[in-house]
Amino acid sequence: MSVKRSSIHGQWSSRWVFILAATGSAVGLGNIWRFPYLVGENGGGAFVLVYLLCVVLVGIPIMMAEIMLGRRGRQSPINTMGTLAAEEGLGRHWQLLGWMGMIAGFIILSYYSVIAGWTLAYIFRTGAGLFVDVDATFSKQMFSELINDPEKLLAWHTVFMAMSMVIIARGVKSGLEKAVKFLMPALFVLLLIMVGYAMGTEKFMEGIDYLFNPDFARLADKNFFSDILLPALGQAFFSLSIGMGAIMIYGSYLSQKSSISFNCFTIAFADTLVAILAGIAIFPIVFTYGLEPAGGPGLIFITLPIAFGQMPFGTFFGTLFFILLLFAAWTSAISLLEPAVTWLVENKNMTRVKATTLAGIAVWLLGLATVLSFNQWAFSFSFAGTVKENGLFDMFDIFTSNIMLPIGGLLIAIFAAWRMSRSATVEELGLGDGFYYKTWRFAVRYIAPLGVIVVFLNAIGIFKLLGFVE
Ligand code: PFF
Repeated sequence: MSVKRSSIHGQWSSRWVFILAATGSAVGLGNIWRFPYLVGENGGGAFVLVYLLCVVLVGIPIMMAEIMLGRRGRQSPINTMGTLAAEEGLGRHWQLLGWMGMIAGFIILSYYSVIAGWTLAYIFRTGAGLFVDVDATFSKQMFSELINDPEKLLAWHTVFMAMSMVIIARGVKSGLEKAVKFLMPALFVLLLIMVGYAMGTEKFMEGIDYLFNPDFARLADKNFFSDILLPALGQAFFSLSIGMGAIMIYGSYLSQKSSISFNCFTIAFADTLVAILAGIAIFPIVFTYGLEPAGGPGLIFITLPIAFGQMPFGTFFGTLFFILLLFAAWTSAISLLEPAVTWLVENKNMTRVKATTLAGIAVWLLGLATVLSFNQWAFSFSFAGTVKENGLFDMFDIFTSNIMLPIGGLLIAIFAAWRMSRSATVEELGLGDGFYYKTWRFAVRYIAPLGVIVVFLNAIGIFKLLGFVE
């Protein structure tokens, strides 16, 4: 049966626009802010290696499945899941997948916006030449001054949410398309310049070794499953924007003719490259200036300004860098709210503007918890062998990326490979029925679900309980 639905929210004007928009969603703070600090907290090369395996074995097949479901359903994730489940004669409970994704998007955006607010603050700080010739102590002090000031954090969080809401209200496709076309390549070039700077630092090779040498001795006091594999898997979901319907809704605007597999590989490649380049730019600076790799969420905001303060035209490059990082965060933020906005438009008969205002205000309010996590409400706890110091923010982050997104991904894989008819997936993926299709099917049927389940079982200690591992 061939399904020809169209989205009431519109369609991308070409395949490249989809690739750019989806890359815009994938590339963001996750690559440049989150990836390096997780690498630093989790012992370097081994984490990077496991992360890459998670992207290839679990991330890409699930991304293909998620886009496929979106394109076939052509509605908000909740309604897409309802429609596709009904088509396969399955119950409405599959809609829960969409609901969970929508909630995950809300929570992620609530803290994502606060961190994007730091980026906004750093545009002005670097622009004012504040970091010229500074040392690590000064840079650290500047960062803690920012996060200890809830009013400043609140103000920047508000500005960022307002910026995101304006674009979402206008519709993802107008405005965003043009911005992404120029700004993403510009960010890439700037990262290359940063890598060039890092190559000239004294401890460049130490940084490279830290990043690429999977030295398991560094992980002596860590549990491989719960402390390395779980956060690496979570980061793969977070960075690729999968498991919560963001890429599903983008898929729903994709033309029927476009190749899902080609698109996915391109997006995943670009996303991974940006994360690795960010790592190459950051760790040599960390070691050269005697900073701690496990510096936590402040890592890039402490290290990069030192480098900008030293390099020729550093004030210019630094300001530009934070502006482009802001754009990268912006294009991701938009995709985090899009599932909720489309659902409100479809089900509550709201205009886009009203839906965006309502959803945006709710996210903004929730963001207040993150604002206070770095100061008044700060408390610490231990996760993945690391002490996390920023209470609710860390809990939101851990719960969404390490639990909600992988569960979302698991359900997507189960639906696409076990519940949907084979012929429907053959038709929708357009890969034919040969080797490529079979490889994809094997990956979503077995590797991805088993990967997620094994990581979970280990992380919650079931294997230990049963005596399978020490
Ligand atoms: N992938 C984005 C990043 O790496 O910054 C964050 C993100 C966007 C996560 C959309 C999840 C999502 F659905």
